[in-house]
Amino acid sequence: MHRLTNRQILLGITGGIAAYKSAELTRLLKKAGADVRVVMTPAAAEFITPLTLQALSGHQVHLELLDPEAEAGMGHIELAKWADLVLIAPASADFIARMTAGMGNDLLTTLCLATDAPICLAPAMNQAMWRDTATQTNLATVVQRGIKLFGPAEGEQACGDTGPGRMLEPEQLAQLAAEQFETRSLSGKTVFITAGPTREPIDPVRFISNHSSGKMGFALAQAAVDAGARVKLISGPVNISAPPRVELVKVETAEQMLAASLDGIATCDLFIGAAAVADYKPVAVAEHKIKKGNEEIMELRLVKNPDIIATIAAQAAPPFTVGFAAETRDLLNYARSKLTRKQLDMIIANDVSQPGIGFNSDENLVTLVTTDTQETLPQCSKQQLARQLIEKIASTMNAAQDKV
Ligand code: PMT
Repeated sequence: MHRLTNRQILLGITGGIAAYKSAELTRLLKKAGADVRVVMTPAAAEFITPLTLQALSGHQVHLELLDPEAEAGMGHIELAKWADLVLIAPASADFIARMTAGMGNDLLTTLCLATDAPICLAPAMNQAMWRDTATQTNLATVVQRGIKLFGPAEGEQACGDTGPGRMLEPEQLAQLAAEQFETRSLSGKTVFITAGPTREPIDPVRFISNHSSGKMGFALAQAAVDAGARVKLISGPVNISAPPRVELVKVETAEQMLAASLDGIATCDLFIGAAAVADYKPVAVAEHKIKKGNEEIMELRLVKNPDIIATIAAQAAPPFTVGFAAETRDLLNYARSKLTRKQLDMIIANDVSQPGIGFNSDENLVTLVTTDTQETLPQCSKQQLARQLIEKIASTMNAAQDKV
């Protein structure tokens, strides 16, 4: 149902009678969990009002390339970067021609030039216009550039003709949009992911913990499910909901996280440790709330927690094991020493001293480290990053397994 949770879809609407169906498409994309921003060409606004799309998408509709007010908010380059997918429905013959020529003479064509996101077109036009050599040549060119075509369907047309050129129905388009995110790179694999903080009790009302929100681990779980994996997400206490189709195991302490991680480990192909596990816990948990005494200094004795990821990597037949390194200085040296000491296949290093990334932020900036490679990925949302990480982990894991 929520196959598009956290997906950012830029819906482009061009001028054609099928534009009225874009209202239902917007509703269905939102219902599937996507955040939808709508860009309309001036011709599209002749067929359906921007107000309708604004009400359904929950965002102001973008209409003009040179609109100072819009540029002060989310400008055209920000919109191009924001999108995970650009879906143009309906895509008129004129729009396809302008796009093929690489023009940037309105907001939508400019966005198509500026975006790195995949672009999908849902053509809609009269059957004779569809069959015309110019349209077919343009379509062949855009397809060669990697742009996907959704449809068109054949049938009765608004003008009374019958033939190819009808836009696909909104349900079909929403379904195809969701399929664009399913990579199958972890198809048939079982993935365990730890996320969030652990809580180590001191007494019935106090505990030792940290600022992990679970956002990074939950985003990885979503990306792994989208890549076709069966996912068990083992999480400490967080305030976010588990993605659909994920088995969530809630834990509190490091000991509980270890037990949940070891449960069924023989079936696990890939283990990712994104949790911020407390390295130490109180030697003893007081049975009752510790009362304030006369002493100025109070000492708390701590004992080491088990190292969950090192325990997983030390199994007789370990899964491909990926850790995170959260550091405030000397990031890559510490990450490399953890990679070796914990016998991991890969470590993802994040500098948690930087504002706006790491603990409890919506974005992250990481470097992937293996024994012989190192790659820094640009700062982006944890969802976008998780998708990149899952693809990179899957290809490294598959390459390692091919060698065996
Ligand atoms: O949850 P968010 O707010 O989104 O923040 C994400 C994050 C910053 C928590 C995440 O990106 C991250 O860096 N997670 C690892 C944090 C951490 O505890 O790092 P570490 O360098 O202390 O541990 C190294 C690795 O060993 C980690 O994979 C950790 O899960 C694992 N570990 C650590 C201690 C322990 N006792 N058992 C473990 O398995």
